[in-house]
Amino acid sequence: MKVGIVGLGSYVPERVVTNADLEKVLDTTDEWIRTRSGIIERRFAREDQATSDLAKIAAERALKDANLSPYDIDLIIVGTNSPDMLYPATACLVQDKIGAKNAAAFDLQAGCPGWIYAATVGAQFIKSGMYKNILVIGAEVITRMMDSTDRGTYVLFGDGAGATVLSTVENGGFISSELYADGSLAQYLTLPAGGSRKPFSEEVLKERTYFTKMDGQEVFKFSVREISRISKKVLDKANVPLESVDWFIPHQANLRIIKAGAQKLGIPMEKVVVTIDKFGNSSAASIPVALDKIYREGKLKNSDKVLMVSFGAGMTSGAIIMEWSK
Ligand SMILES: CC(C)(COP(=O)(O)OP(=O)(O)OC[C@H]1O[C@@H](n2cnc3c(N)ncnc32)[C@H](O)[C@@H]1OP(=O)(O)O)[C@@H](O)C(=O)NCCC(=O)NCCS
Repeated sequence: MKVGIVGLGSYVPERVVTNADLEKVLDTTDEWIRTRSGIIERRFAREDQATSDLAKIAAERALKDANLSPYDIDLIIVGTNSPDMLYPATACLVQDKIGAKNAAAFDLQAGCPGWIYAATVGAQFIKSGMYKNILVIGAEVITRMMDSTDRGTYVLFGDGAGATVLSTVENGGFISSELYADGSLAQYLTLPAGGSRKPFSEEVLKERTYFTKMDGQEVFKFSVREISRISKKVLDKANVPLESVDWFIPHQANLRIIKAGAQKLGIPMEKVVVTIDKFGNSSAASIPVALDKIYREGKLKNSDKVLMVSFGAGMTSGAIIMEWSK
């Protein structure tokens, strides 16, 4: 049985925040941000928007694209690191918002590879025969998890949502997936407070540990290594030669990571999808948003081979190789 993407949709908030806007509130420069990260602008959600609101819009677009009704959905998985609240799951809020009355729903937290993990999990439910149509969403209002006084993180992130409907397909679809985690590196990218380890307190407020803490250089090294290692692994497993990959969609965290990773892997930049300049790092949303972008631009052709790879908090990484057919 083959499983693939039968519907695709995305949404990024309308509010554009440029590097010049950030220069006004932080000790930073447009030049530093561009040269160190490749980011020119990013999107910030409106104050009244939370992750489920972005996910709802992306999900409705994906359902329309799949020509399915919300009642046809059996399961919703939301990959996110910025849920509306600790519980209930954002997926349950999305289920209610889109009226998917027949769907079970849960969140999957796997750092930025959230969508890759969730799509891999979703595909297993279909292969096992348990479910037919699954909404897999990567959605974030991750900018709210960032400290607006920390120039090392605040300038890098943006909000967005990408949604995919998975179902059985006659041709193409997912060829193989690979998932990886190394929890011994957890401290390099973490939001330490607000959970059971460090509940909210005056100390937490003072330390600002309710915001993301990151060791940029360690994350950088892990990311470049994982892009090539896990991509090679998934291609080997699928028996797909690197040369036959038509599109390479790496997680959009930093243009320097993308370029170094692509070079290490040996894939030319013409095949690499880049959205970081416009959207920054939208965490678990970055891959489905980038995929939807080339789809809407009419660039994805049937039987194109698409390699998607991501890395992030955990530390985790994941890759999917698929053949596009829709
Ligand atoms: C964060 C990152 C862009 C920093 O780039 P870098 O080249 O490693 O820069 P460094 O951390 O060495 O910092 C260099 C200097 O720039 C400064 N700096 C950091 N952020 C800055 C900013 N926004 N504006 C201006 N200067 C800044 C630092 O304070 C440091 O100054 P110092 O030398 O006086 O101490 C880079 O490490 C990175 O992208 N890492 C991966 C992050 C990531 O992808 N996270 C998400 C994974 S899903």
